Amino acid sequence: MSNTTTGPDLVKSADLLKRYQYGASYVTDYAEFRQKILDKTVVPHQVEFQAASPRKEICWLKCPWCYGLSATDTGERLAKDRAIEIMHQIAKGGVKKVIFAGYATDPLYCDYLEDLLEVSVNYGQIFGFNTKAIKTSARLLEILSTPTVAPKSYLSISVDAGSNEVYNTAHAVDNPKSRIYDRVVDNVSKLAKSRAKGGAWFDLSATYLINETNNSKTEVAKFIKDFRDAGANLLRFTYPQLPKDFVPAAGIIPSKRDVVQYTSELTELIQSENRPDCPVLLVDADSTHDIFRKPRTTPCFASFIYPTVGFDGWLYHCSQSSAPNFRAMALGDLAKSDFWDLYYNYDPQNLPEHFRGCAKKMEETGCRCDRKEHVTNTGVIASGAFADLLDPETA
Ligand SMILES: C[S@@+](CC[C@H](N)C(=O)[O-])C[C@H]1O[C@@H](n2cnc3c(N)ncnc32)[C@H](O)[C@@H]1O
Ligand code: SF4
Ligand code: SF4
Repeated sequence: MSNTTTGPDLVKSADLLKRYQYGASYVTDYAEFRQKILDKTVVPHQVEFQAASPRKEICWLKCPWCYGLSATDTGERLAKDRAIEIMHQIAKGGVKKVIFAGYATDPLYCDYLEDLLEVSVNYGQIFGFNTKAIKTSARLLEILSTPTVAPKSYLSISVDAGSNEVYNTAHAVDNPKSRIYDRVVDNVSKLAKSRAKGGAWFDLSATYLINETNNSKTEVAKFIKDFRDAGANLLRFTYPQLPKDFVPAAGIIPSKRDVVQYTSELTELIQSENRPDCPVLLVDADSTHDIFRKPRTTPCFASFIYPTVGFDGWLYHCSQSSAPNFRAMALGDLAKSDFWDLYYNYDPQNLPEHFRGCAKKMEETGCRCDRKEHVTNTGVIASGAFADLLDPETA
């Protein structure tokens, strides 16, 4: 398939829609996946890189629902050169996709993210971003206009508002006069221009977590119009999940009853805006998959599928267990060890003990799966491919 701007065709792809509905398949052949874990030939479907430069504040915002608000920050960071070296190791080992995201931080808050993205693009990897896109540098826009950007790459911009006022309230921005929302709309236009300039398609989506602060129809309609006009080709609404280790103020995390109410009030409007060239989705995955407020699904296979480089430069099982407070279950320190040494540091002869030990540590650290993680672990368990390797205590 040529990598030209065929947006409407690509956007219709089941792959994109599935991903945004938390239904993407990260493992396609479970028997093969099992064999590769036993042989130590397994390669992650993707690696998440949560790069951060040394700063006092870990993120530019403190969103009241953020998964990572309880993360501890010891101040440790990977040096920029080491981060680039790790990116090379990941690519040379055959990883086809890198996600730039964050747990308590934002990829575009890292001042050398462009260097990492450049490595990824040069290897022809698919890249993904989860970001607030509050800042987009000229160099970022230039790299994104590379004609060889791999198909299925994407930037997912979390917005959660349709105006400056609600953006500030929803994200607890200190300065009520701040116009971050306008800046984000403008940045999405710039990203869309880079895409058009390079001629290589990448998906540009905008997402919206609904809660007490931002659920009015006016706000929702304005967000849809602004981001579709700016060039986004998929918009998704969903609900914040309960984060780890703290209970946000009332109304920040919708109750089951709130979810039912918001869904019934907004479904008609959202469906009426749904178009083939820019799907608009309202996704309630917690009800669909019966995972409302469920902490985690174990045994956990995340470290084999989407291991994550945390902002502290350690390698962790997944995006939701990637901060110093998860050291007890970390795979190791990338400042001292290479990526593949840490990735393959398990005993394939004793997988029951491996999974049992991990599940125990996961319970002790209190990690909480995001939706894709619940769905992936559930799929691997349900496949039965590991049934004989998992003792009843683990499964
Ligand atoms: C943890 S953030 C990190 C990347 C970036 N800082 C951002 O906010 O987009 C990744 C995604 O998780 C979402 N998110 C954060 N906390 C959440 C929660 N408690 N429930 C559901 N989604 C959450 C954000 O809205 C964002 O779309
Ligand atoms: S949701 Fe993203 S931008 Fe908001 S505090 Fe968390 S990491 Fe930072
Ligand atoms: S949060 Fe979920 S996916 Fe991540 S390590 Fe814990 S159990 Fe595994």
